[in-house]
Amino acid sequence: MTAHALTRQVIERLDQCPDPRLRELVGGVIRHVHEFAVEQALTEAELMAGIGFLTEVGQMCTARRQEFILLSDTLGLSMLVDLINHGAGSSATESTVLGPFYVEGSPWRSNGDAITDDLGAQPLLVSGHVRDTAGRPLPGATVDVWQNATNRLYAVQDDGQSPENLRGRFHTDGDGAFAFRTVRPVDYPIPDDGPVGRMLRATGRHPWRPAHIHFIVSADGCIPVTTHVFDSESAYLESDVVFGVKQSLVRTLVAHDPAVEAAPAGIQGRWYTVDIGVALAPVASSSLG
Ligand code: BEZ
Ligand code: FE
Repeated sequence: MTAHALTRQVIERLDQCPDPRLRELVGGVIRHVHEFAVEQALTEAELMAGIGFLTEVGQMCTARRQEFILLSDTLGLSMLVDLINHGAGSSATESTVLGPFYVEGSPWRSNGDAITDDLGAQPLLVSGHVRDTAGRPLPGATVDVWQNATNRLYAVQDDGQSPENLRGRFHTDGDGAFAFRTVRPVDYPIPDDGPVGRMLRATGRHPWRPAHIHFIVSADGCIPVTTHVFDSESAYLESDVVFGVKQSLVRTLVAHDPAVEAAPAGIQGRWYTVDIGVALAPVASSSLG
């Protein structure tokens, strides 16, 4: 039997699959995995090493650790699926990876609130607007935000933080505006003490992501966006381990000096501001393609 005949035989076993999409997807996986094995002249030892690696990825997963998402992200698969589904041609805010640290049900907060009890040495005041792609303000939109602390960790990774630290949900006001206080996010390595970290080291890659704040913004009648705002001063914008940076999402965090201008109430020392415009596409326009 030839390799080609074997591949055909395996794919033919899907003939009775009642779900046409499932048949297409599984058939595609079989075709590409077989092509990969032939192209690389895969050895039995290499096959077993690959199976061992995927086994470890599964064993690393817990309620707080999603090693398969890390694998998909670090192989660029998550961003490839993002590009396929949220491609060019829209004036809506661009999307990027969700990542493994999103926790549903963040506390509702009021505009202007802090999302942390400790604004630390580098307070950041975030303001923004949510509009539709025609520029009309979207009052009552939901802005769900989360970010890491100065110790590089998200609350969900760190027993030393309150579970609600550095996360929150806001409703935009009558002008579509929102605002919150936070700390300047910092560059951080993705969790690299598991098989994905080993894969990165073995292939000569670093585990770092550029500093960012995560947003999921949604409004009635619009397509929600899962996105980030990246700090333009990060050293990792060009080499994000998960390939999540899009130029349109990079912002300058503007530094303010209390010796030059009066600090806002409750802010001591130097602080930073950033203003963010979010544009959401109406649901109907996407169905037109
Ligand atoms: C994050 O930004 O939280 C993230 C995204 C992908 C992998 C790891 C972390
Ligand atoms: Fe993140």
